[in-house]
Amino acid sequence: MNRRIIILTIIVMTVALIGLMGIQIYWIQNASAVKEAIFRRSVNEAKESIVKKLERIEKKKAVEISQFEGMLNFNRHLPYESFITKDELDSLISQELNIRGIDTRFEFGIFQQDSSVFKMEKSMNFRKELIEKSYASPLFQNDFFSSPQYLLIYFPHEKQFLLTELWGMLLISIILIIAIVYSFTYTITTIFRQKKLSEVKNDFINNMTHEFKTPISTISLACEALSDHDMRQSGEFTENYIHVIVEENKRLAVMAEKILQTAVIDKGQMKMTKEKIDLHDVISEVIKNISIQVEIKDGVILKNFMAVNSVLEGDKVHLTNLVYNLLDNANKYSPKKPVIRISTENTSSGILLTIEDKGIGISKAEQKKVFEKLYRVPTGNIHEVRGFGLGLSYVKATVEEHNGKISLESEVNKGSTFKVFLPFKLVEKN
Ligand SMILES: Nc1ncnc2c1ncn2[C@@H]1O[C@H](COP(=O)(O)OP(=O)(O)OP(=O)(O)O)[C@@H](O)[C@H]1O
Ligand SMILES: [Mg+2]
Repeated sequence: MNRRIIILTIIVMTVALIGLMGIQIYWIQNASAVKEAIFRRSVNEAKESIVKKLERIEKKKAVEISQFEGMLNFNRHLPYESFITKDELDSLISQELNIRGIDTRFEFGIFQQDSSVFKMEKSMNFRKELIEKSYASPLFQNDFFSSPQYLLIYFPHEKQFLLTELWGMLLISIILIIAIVYSFTYTITTIFRQKKLSEVKNDFINNMTHEFKTPISTISLACEALSDHDMRQSGEFTENYIHVIVEENKRLAVMAEKILQTAVIDKGQMKMTKEKIDLHDVISEVIKNISIQVEIKDGVILKNFMAVNSVLEGDKVHLTNLVYNLLDNANKYSPKKPVIRISTENTSSGILLTIEDKGIGISKAEQKKVFEKLYRVPTGNIHEVRGFGLGLSYVKATVEEHNGKISLESEVNKGSTFKVFLPFKLVEKN
């Protein structure tokens, strides 16, 4: 996918997501406003009904008293205590609120405005809130002689109550938004990872074609020369050409083997044979093979075998390849005279192998990546040093198969040190 299209898609998706979240927030706010309005209306209705009921109760009581005392005073109302108790008023309010679906804690009080006293109140803890933030209703409005009085109702948990009603909606919205954001970021990172992978794979194919082309064309030239009648007369030439073909063929075989090995590692089917191996012998053998390449560049390989016990259990072929790959890298990535030091030492449970070079080094950011398959430290468009980026991933897989550990210390332009720990005993995995 084109980089511009990806970026455009990201922008469109981000804008859409933000828009969607905005609309969601707007709807939730709207719903909350509606809930609040309904709540207020229900409380007002409840208040009116309570006031009416209070007046009715009072009137009934007044009639009872007048029958008893023989006089009726319609203009003055009775003191509250005489016709209703605090608990009765409490249950009256509670009943009226419950009918309207308001099931939250409330406080109430009957307040005389001019003298600023509470004639009756549920608890004394909310006087300030009752006066400042409550729902108020005038009582006994036709009583012109007494000073105005109010029934005040206050809900200490009003906000929470309104929120609990919205809680389900809010929760589902949050879960959905998180799900969308998660899928979105996952998709984007996958796209980028795939893009990177396809670039790496392209590089690899280019690289491989190039690597294979050289020996193939050398072999075909040598074959051409050999098929020439005159050439065949000279035994020395023939020998030389055959030698070239054999050598180039070996190179091809090594490269093909390397690629095949990687496929095997990928499937997790690395074949291991367990035998007793002297690591010093393995290293010496590899040095013998690789020293020509190092000497061509005027370099040296310094051996420092300090391990007293150099025998361990492992797979000879894989361990040989491991040492070869590390020494090959140390040589390849030392542009001038390579100075490579290879040392061994014993620890309580195994052997520590250290391969040190004074080459180009690897920056901190790249150090983790070099063990990934097909990864090569980018050096602009041209790679002076040929390779597939498979060596270290193979080394890492081999170390893991041997239950060992590998670490890397390196500084750009100073050099690199690879440390490989291999245990004496190889515990086979199931
Ligand atoms: N000793 C070293 N010094 C500096 N850079 C190194 C060293 N060893 C490895 N690297 C970096 O790590 C990368 C990965 O190494 P790796 O051995 O996996 O692949 P390669 O050498 O490029 O190819 P090949 O598959 O032929 O080994 C290299 O391309 C190189 O950039
Ligand atoms: Mg390599």
